[in-house]
Amino acid sequence: MQLKTSVFLFLLLLYTLHFNYISLALNQEGLYLQSVRLSLSEPPGFLSDWSDRDATPCNWTGVTCNRRYSVVSLILSGASLSGSFPITLCRLPSLSKLSLSSNSINSSLPLSISSCRNLTYLDLSQNFIVGPLPSTLSDLHFLRYLNLEGNYLSGAIPATFGLFPQLEVLVLADNLLNGTVSGALGNITSLKKLVLAYNPFLPTHLPPELGNLTNLEELWLTDCHLVGPIPHTFNTLSRLKNLDLATNRLTGLLIPTLISQLKSIVQIELYNNSFTGNLPGGWSNLTELRRFDASMNELTGTIPNELCELPLESLNLFENQLEGLIPESIANSPNLHELKLFGNRLVGSLPSQLGKNSALQIIDVTNNNLSGEIPQFLCQNGALEDLVLLNNALSGSIPVNLGKCHTLQRVRLQGNRLYGEIPAQFWGLPNVYLLDLYENEFSGNISHFIYGAKNLSTLAISKNKFSGSIPSEIGSLDQLVEFLADGNELSGEFPSTIVNIEQLGRLDLSNNDLSGGIPKGIQSLKQLNELNVANNRLSGDIPVEIGNLPVLNYLDLSHNNFSGEIPVSLQNLKLNKLNLSSNCLSGDIPPLFANEVYRDSFLGNPGLCTNDSGICNHKGRNKIRVFSWALRSIFVIAGVMFLLSIAWFLFKYKKLKKLNKNTTITKWTSFHKLGFSEFEITDSLKEANVIGRGASGKVYKVVLSNGETVAVKKLHERHYKDENNSNGGGDSVKDAFEVEVDTLGKIRHKNIVRLWCCCNTESCKLLVYEYMPNGSLGDLLHGNSKCKLLDWPMRLRIALDAAEGLSYLHHDSVPPIVHRDVKSNNILLDEDFGAKISDFGVAKVVKAVKKGVESMSVIAGSCGYIAPEYAYTLRVNEKSDIYSFGIVILELVTGKPPIDGELGDKDLAGWVCTTLDQKGINEVVDPKLDSTRFKREICRVLDIGLLCTSTLPINRPSMRRVVNTLQELVATTPLMDA
Ligand SMILES: *[C@@H]1O[C@H](CO)[C@@H](O)[C@H](O)[C@H]1NC(C)=O
Ligand SMILES: *[C@@H]1O[C@H](CO)[C@@H](O)[C@H](O)[C@H]1NC(C)=O
Ligand SMILES: *[C@@H]1O[C@H](CO)[C@@H](O)[C@H](O)[C@H]1NC(C)=O
Repeated sequence: MQLKTSVFLFLLLLYTLHFNYISLALNQEGLYLQSVRLSLSEPPGFLSDWSDRDATPCNWTGVTCNRRYSVVSLILSGASLSGSFPITLCRLPSLSKLSLSSNSINSSLPLSISSCRNLTYLDLSQNFIVGPLPSTLSDLHFLRYLNLEGNYLSGAIPATFGLFPQLEVLVLADNLLNGTVSGALGNITSLKKLVLAYNPFLPTHLPPELGNLTNLEELWLTDCHLVGPIPHTFNTLSRLKNLDLATNRLTGLLIPTLISQLKSIVQIELYNNSFTGNLPGGWSNLTELRRFDASMNELTGTIPNELCELPLESLNLFENQLEGLIPESIANSPNLHELKLFGNRLVGSLPSQLGKNSALQIIDVTNNNLSGEIPQFLCQNGALEDLVLLNNALSGSIPVNLGKCHTLQRVRLQGNRLYGEIPAQFWGLPNVYLLDLYENEFSGNISHFIYGAKNLSTLAISKNKFSGSIPSEIGSLDQLVEFLADGNELSGEFPSTIVNIEQLGRLDLSNNDLSGGIPKGIQSLKQLNELNVANNRLSGDIPVEIGNLPVLNYLDLSHNNFSGEIPVSLQNLKLNKLNLSSNCLSGDIPPLFANEVYRDSFLGNPGLCTNDSGICNHKGRNKIRVFSWALRSIFVIAGVMFLLSIAWFLFKYKKLKKLNKNTTITKWTSFHKLGFSEFEITDSLKEANVIGRGASGKVYKVVLSNGETVAVKKLHERHYKDENNSNGGGDSVKDAFEVEVDTLGKIRHKNIVRLWCCCNTESCKLLVYEYMPNGSLGDLLHGNSKCKLLDWPMRLRIALDAAEGLSYLHHDSVPPIVHRDVKSNNILLDEDFGAKISDFGVAKVVKAVKKGVESMSVIAGSCGYIAPEYAYTLRVNEKSDIYSFGIVILELVTGKPPIDGELGDKDLAGWVCTTLDQKGINEVVDPKLDSTRFKREICRVLDIGLLCTSTLPINRPSMRRVVNTLQELVATTPLMDA
């Protein structure tokens, strides 16, 4: 019995041991994966189920096994993993699918990657991989899918790539590849998809060998610096569905035999090249073609009817030199939703059936010579959003049924010969935000229906023959920013409800027949920039409240019947334009205006006192009495204030002494060898030395005893305390001060502001920088000072300097740094106008991402500079810096601030795009620049700005590439060094 029990217990023990043995021993593949995990940084807990208590890794996150428990696939996309490429993975004998896309892998790819020999699928896109493409990749004989898009790979495409035996998909877009587009790729005959777009290749001809890729379905070579013609051999690419050669410098004719062989093609993108000659024939075979875009070339001749007979979705041929008619047949396509033909020499009328057979969304035929009427059916299928017909010779009136087109958003009919009344409901379309009827011959009233136009932001009806009164419903349009109705025959009273439009920035009602006075309550128009009511019959007093409009800088009340005195409050305004001439004003001119600059502002007011008229004497005596009374009261008040200020000073002085004691005894940290004593600094922090105020604190200019000048930033006590609390992230979230010290203290780069030292105590936080005598770029471009005009070579140099600074942060600093608040106010200029990046208060060391997802969710950045993807992802990424930098570039080119009433409802990037499309480059470039002399350079820089502000982060070039392009330009710009 006892024996039996012992045996049983022994067996039980054995069994338990055995069982434990199995569950304790992670198999070899699991151990390999564990070591991979150790070599990478991961967000907390992300791979917590990679437990060494499992027998196999088959149930782990991202891992899939075959039936023999061997790992066949590892997919860890978007996991915020960082570190070197984990080559240990190649020891997994069955691994066939590997994806580490959208992580922060930041090493180069080792040659030994060829030991991953069973891989069929490799996706390392959207990482920070550097260095060359390993020539050994093609030893992966089973590889079918290779995606390395969105890294920093450089150098040439290895010739060995021609040896891939089975590769079907090769995606190398958006890297720094700077060899040529290699003909060797023509040997990968299994290839179905080849994507090399957005690489800074050396100028290359399209290799004829690519014609050997007879299985190719997608060829995407946007922005690859390609030159020369499309080779004839491409006529063998009969399986091609998508051909994208946009934004290169391709030239020559589009050959009919080439076009006609692309029998499977769905999309052809050839825009932004230099193709010449006529659009060929041979389209009838291309029955699958849906989208054709050959905009921005030098194409001539007519639009082929054969092309328009295809069931196209989209036809874009804008900015060429096409002439002749728009083929009527385009209206037959059941798919057509986009037709952009602006900037050609097209004549005749728009196809009369346009919109009848398809859900047309966008039509833009601006800047042609089209005549005839607006077709009736444009919105027949209820889809029309953009109706843009500017600057043609269209006549007739707006079709009545467009009044029911509730999808319309943008209506621009400027510069035609349209006439008649506007259909009443057309005024009130709920989604229209831009209604531009400028310079036509429209007549009739503005309808009461306008109350329905809840999204209307710009209403421009200037220079027509509109009559009647302005309906009071206009006051309910709370999105309205611009109301321009000058040069009509509007009559009746100035509508009093206008004062309800809080967003209103520009109001131009000049050259009409309005009467009555300016309504009460005008001071509530806090955004009003421009008020022009010249040439009407307005009367009454000029309301004192006009002086309280905080941003008014254009005021024209001339040629009316205004009477009474000029309100002294007008002196509060910062006016660029003041015109009160030809009214019936009387009394004195406010003292600030009594000088030469405003001489013309008051002409034609016979009752007004001027130095050379004696009209005002009788009033004068009265004034003297009032004056002496006022003088007496001023003395009394001044005396009281003086006493108060002495008391206040004594009080403050005590506090200051305390503060000085505090700061001088605590430790300073120096980051550089200093030629001055830190202790001098605190003595000079006086109000008189303040040179800037930011959200975080004041900046002082301090001249030290040794003659050196430094800038000292003193953070508000409240600021750094609040920030600690509000972030709520506990210890992991550092305050702005520490971030700035941590990042900037270690950096030495010619285009990054130097931090000399800092002082860090409970009660006072000081940062001592090198002093930048020319202030910030933002102030120079948009400030009031306008002391120094920045000419083009200077602006180009500033752009390059700033780009080099940022490029250093992104690419050369270890670890990389994302600045997160790039803006013109954070770019400072030294005595030679050399630019340096400053203000690292919200900068983020890229590696720190691993510390926690919560610390990334703090949105940083400044209004007008924030990349659009912030709306849907909070991933901290250098691409958002590049967006902000793009905005700075656009500021340099346009001279405009990133957000401004002048830009209407758009941000600067949007404004530049639309203005470019519709008015051309001359309207975009800062008029202060010599744009004839530097045309080429300005265009190139503008291109960079637009690329950097691409909506899709992947389309934005890296800072390294921006630097390269700018360097090239600087080298070739005349007088760059003068
Ligand atoms: C994976 O987990 C499931 C259920 O959680 C379990 O039934 C299975 O045995 C596990 N497989 C391996 C290989 O560990
Ligand atoms: C390509 O880029 C790399 C890395 O930036 C550089 O070292 C190399 O000189 C470049 N090669 C060419 C041909 O420009
Ligand atoms: C590939 O194309 C080139 C030029 O178009 C041609 O000379 C060569 O013979 C072709 N190679 C193969 C393998 O077909």
